[in-house]
Parts: sequence; structure tokens; C-alpha cells
Amino acid sequence: MVISRSQNCVGLDIGSSGVKLTVLKGSKRGLELKAFDHETLPPETIVDGAVMNATVVEDAIHKLTSRNKIKTKETAMSVSGNTVIVKKIRLPLMTQEELEESIQWEAEQHIPFDIQDVFIGFEVVAPKTEQGQMDVALVAAKKEMINDYQAVCMNAGLEPLVVDVDAFALQNMYEVNYGYHRGETVVLIDVGNSVVTMNVVSDGVTMFTRDLSLGGSDITEEIQRQLNITYREAELYKMGGGPGMASDEVLPQEVESIIQDKAEDMAHEIQRSLDFYAATAAEEEIDKIALSGGTAAIPSLVRTIERISGVQTEVANPFRKIDYDEREFPPDRIQEWAPIAGISVGLALRRTDET
Ligand SMILES: Nc1ncnc2c1ncn2[C@@H]1O[C@H](COP(=O)(O)OP(=O)(O)OP(=O)(O)O)[C@@H](O)[C@H]1O
Ligand SMILES: [Mg+2]
Repeated sequence: MVISRSQNCVGLDIGSSGVKLTVLKGSKRGLELKAFDHETLPPETIVDGAVMNATVVEDAIHKLTSRNKIKTKETAMSVSGNTVIVKKIRLPLMTQEELEESIQWEAEQHIPFDIQDVFIGFEVVAPKTEQGQMDVALVAAKKEMINDYQAVCMNAGLEPLVVDVDAFALQNMYEVNYGYHRGETVVLIDVGNSVVTMNVVSDGVTMFTRDLSLGGSDITEEIQRQLNITYREAELYKMGGGPGMASDEVLPQEVESIIQDKAEDMAHEIQRSLDFYAATAAEEEIDKIALSGGTAAIPSLVRTIERISGVQTEVANPFRKIDYDEREFPPDRIQEWAPIAGISVGLALRRTDET
């Protein structure tokens, strides 16, 4: 009898504001949540997607794995930001082997980096188009950056098996929880701390991805600057309760208006990318926007994106189709975690035998 040793990877999302860890277990009945947890990272630990202080990140990962008694070593991680390039290219139909052989050459034509400095990955997004060709997502990320992520993972006692990009992890998370419907175009948008990741998915296939350098830290920094307080205090104000504030006290008027101004800026920036997509796409009708990321927990941001785009917008629940024991994971915690958990759930779907 062959015993399959395949299991789910540990999903590890190293973001600029914190590390998120998800462990899922696949069973006959579906997926079950085994662990979710997060650890905050101080500002400047991760800058523009690059690890600036490896020890701090390693400690955070180590805390997460020991606190949650994680036995699995195989880990799926992801990278994002403007040093990661995802480009969809159309190629003649070819086998996986042929693709592996030619991808380096293809990458040289399409990637604006010195090919020696980057790792090249690819994923077939449409195995066969009507014209007898195939669509392939070419991914390029700086070797230095990937090496740093793998090093922190290993130094924390884990084995980095998969390095994905945020946009695709998000796509997998959404697929499991909501499914993709025929003829439907959904825009997945993760609004994190310093990066906004967008992925336009049509008929379950990625059409366009883009990362924008903005996020929740822009709001925190503006509150910090205008109120002349520390980053930490500004962060508390942003979350709805100032330092030492009684729960029935109202937020200073400035905080509300800073949040609203920044939400407008973000929504316009996102709209510019949607317009760009619409100008290049054959099928530009967007049916829905599904948000994730910690900053998507700001209700006025959700409403502003909906108003400016004119598209129905909601926050995706990454635990929607995942079973969990309510004694271990109280529903109010699940709800609180939902925005920040999206990418790590998408990563935790990866199996140890399908790298
Ligand atoms: N309830 C909330 N209200 C407002 N902002 C929130 C809330 N919860 C989290 N955030 C903000 O969301 C951000 C963290 O979200 P997330 O974990 O998705 O980001 P990240 O993955 O660390 O960042 P990035 O991927 O951009 O590097 C922080 O800026 C944090 O202040
Ligand atoms: Mg993130």
C-alpha cells in the first residue's frame, strides 16, 4: 500500500507590518483550520519587500510556530511589491518540459531586470487558447530578496518549499471560498500595510495583476505627522481608539478626516489601475471587487472604493469554506482575523507534493 505523505504546507505571509501563519488540514469533508496566528513587526523591519532586520522576522516566525506547536516544516511563502514582476505572455502550445527549457529565453525578452539577478518562475494560466496557443504568467523576483526570505524561514526552523506571489495566493484563497463563476470577472485587491496587490480574475483565470506601493502605513504616518505623536499612538488612533482613550470617547476630528482623505487617494489610485486594465482588456466588465488585507478592515475605505469604481465591493472571508472548532477558534476572533488572513490562507492551500 502506498501511503501518501502529502499534506498542506504551512502558509507563512511575511508582511511589512506583521507575520501571519495559517495551517490547514485537508480531509474528505473539506478543509479544516488547524492554526492561525500573527505577530507584529516593528516599522522598518521590511522595507519595499526586502528584509532589513532578519533576526526580528526570525523571532516572530519562531514565536508563531512554537506558540501554535506547529509540526509541519514545509512552508509556502510569498513575495510582493514593485521588485516582483508578473507578466502574462502568449506562447505556442508546448509541453511542460519544453516550457521549462524556453522560459529563460522568454524571460530575457520580457523582464526589465538583468536576468542573472532574478529567479524566474512561471505558471500556465490558460493551457490552450482559441488560437491554439497558451497563456503563461512569467514571474521574476530578485534572487537577493528570495534568498533573504528563504533564509529567515530556515533560520526559524522551517523548510521553504514554495515561494509564490501574493496575487496568486489571493486567487487560490478566493477560489476555495467563493469559487469562480462562468463569465464572471472579480477583482481581488489586498490592501496591506505598504502594498496594494491587485489581481483581475475572469472565468477563474488571471487577466492582469499589479502591485501599488501604498497601504495602511500611509494613513498611520499622516496621523502621526498631523497630530505630532508616535507611530504606535497613530496606529492606535487609526484602529479606532487613541492611547489612553476611554471607549466612549470620540476620535479627534482630524483622524476621521485623514482616514477619509487617504481612503479617497487609495481608491483613486486603484481606479487608475482598473482603468488601465479596462483599456487593454477585451472583456472589461467588472462584476465584483473582493477586498482583503488589514486595511480593508476600515469600512469607509470599502465604501469609498465601491463609490469610485461603481462596482459592488465587499471584504472577502478567507475562512468562509473552512471548518474550524469554535471552542478553539471563537467566531469573533475569526472575524477579527479575516482581513489579515487572506494571503496566508491562500499559501496554506499549497500541498507539499505539488511544488
Ligand atoms: N481594524 C483595523 N483598522 C484599520 N487598520 C487596520 C486594522 N487592522 C489592521 N489594520 C492595518 O492593516 C495593516 C496590516 O495589514 P496586513 O497584515 O494585511 O499588512 P501586511 O501584510 O503586513 O503589509 P504588506 O503586505 O503591505 O507589506 C496595517 O497597516 C494595520 O495598521
Ligand atoms: Mg500583506
